[in-house]
Amino acid sequence: MKVKRVAVIGCGSIGSEVVRAIEEGYVKAELVALYDIIKDKCVELTKQLRSQEPRVVSDLRELMTEKPEIVVEAASQDAVREYGEEVLRGGASLVVLSVGALMDPNTLNKLLKAAEEGNTYIYVPTGAIAALDAVRALRRVGFEKVTLRTRKPPTSLKLVGEPTKDLSKVREPTAVFRGKASEAVKKLPFNINVSAALSLASGTDAEVEVIADPNVRRNVHEIEVISKASRITVRVENVPSPRNPRTSYLATLSAIELLRKLTSPDRLIVGT
Ligand SMILES: NC(=O)c1ccc[n+]([C@@H]2O[C@H](COP(=O)([O-])OP(=O)(O)OC[C@H]3O[C@@H](n4cnc5c(N)ncnc54)[C@H](O)[C@@H]3O)[C@@H](O)[C@H]2O)c1
Repeated sequence: MKVKRVAVIGCGSIGSEVVRAIEEGYVKAELVALYDIIKDKCVELTKQLRSQEPRVVSDLRELMTEKPEIVVEAASQDAVREYGEEVLRGGASLVVLSVGALMDPNTLNKLLKAAEEGNTYIYVPTGAIAALDAVRALRRVGFEKVTLRTRKPPTSLKLVGEPTKDLSKVREPTAVFRGKASEAVKKLPFNINVSAALSLASGTDAEVEVIADPNVRRNVHEIEVISKASRITVRVENVPSPRNPRTSYLATLSAIELLRKLTSPDRLIVGT
């Protein structure tokens, strides 16, 4: 099997680990390009590489001239909106980490159209949670309930818009958001990608509660899904990523695992 050409947008905590996984051969791929609005982040990263020689590019047009077959977006919701269509229409499939962007039907439809025109795919890693395979399977029978409750240390949470709250002063568990996933991804765009992945997997706009909890040191996600076929409760306690406390390390590992699957010559595929 020919080694796939991969480019990465965003050389932050997730992007850097993805790059390292390729460098170490854990993901068998050729790293052809890196892009970040802060170019130095990519430049610094390439200094640590021996087996890979990606081009550090200044914009998306340049990135696409390297003819990647897979582009990993590990940047921001804005990046998905700004570059997603061009990537997909230009012949590369897109691994989306900032999955909150896909909760906007307008954005999702544009990307799906571009993917169809480019004969490419949009891949969403399971991310910082588990059991999305079962949730997807249950779609066939429908759902009575799809909820996510997330607890994070207050300093790991970043709320945007009104009302702005100084979460560093929170001394007891405090709900900072209750509502639909489509709203959660706007209010907490850096935190609650899991709610978007759960919603996309279930085909519903999940009910979400986010709690700033000074008693927890891990990012805790609890999913409850009730359907005719199964009742599923999942609790995942994630260690924050050493480089970005808002990101759970499992999300990074999940992205690496997806990329490994997409680039692997393995003939045995486990999990739906
Ligand atoms: N799917 C999940 O489960 C999950 C979990 C954690 C984080 N995330 C999301 O993944 C993304 C990356 O997370 P991270 O922890 O690596 O963040 P990070 O802040 O460590 O790194 C992001 C990098 O992207 C760059 N960037 C931002 N906007 C850009 C743009 N428009 N164009 C080019 N570069 C841009 C930044 O300069 C930064 O270097 C975030 O959007 C985060 O919310 C998803």
